[in-house]
Amino acid sequence: NRVLVLNGPNLNLLGLREPEIYGSVTLDEIAGMLEDRASALSLEIDMRQTNHEGMLVDWLHEAQAEGMRAVLLNAGAYTHTSIALLDAIKAIRTPVVEVHLSDPKSREPFRHLSYVGMAAALTVEGHGADSYRIALEAVAEGKV
Ligand code: DQA
Repeated sequence: NRVLVLNGPNLNLLGLREPEIYGSVTLDEIAGMLEDRASALSLEIDMRQTNHEGMLVDWLHEAQAEGMRAVLLNAGAYTHTSIALLDAIKAIRTPVVEVHLSDPKSREPFRHLSYVGMAAALTVEGHGADSYRIALEAVAEGKV
């Protein structure tokens, strides 16, 4: 019952980076909050961050190879650019939940297209750090 939580570029700077958009919570704090929620739901999470697109592709493949229950994926800006991530999500049977702190659809037009969303089983966006918790609960409730 393991859930892989993948975070893409610039999310290591969460808490410092454009706090008016993304809030003041750090990625470590989200990881702590998510771990607490996961254990209450009898799930285990493995939280990771990388600034490298190919690393996210490798980790998606790993999720399938290791029989993870699901992946929560905040691909950052690669969401809007990466056909490689779209293909990787399609290449695995592990369900992927697209996660965003902000609501990209209400921001600049270049954020309106989501390659990740084209293949994701579910999208949770616009709830700040809570987006991760809502996504985890959707997995626990069998929604994906
Ligand atoms: C984001 C939204 C993306 O458009 C942006 O590039 C990010 C963060 C979010 O969580 O709101 O890096 O994925």
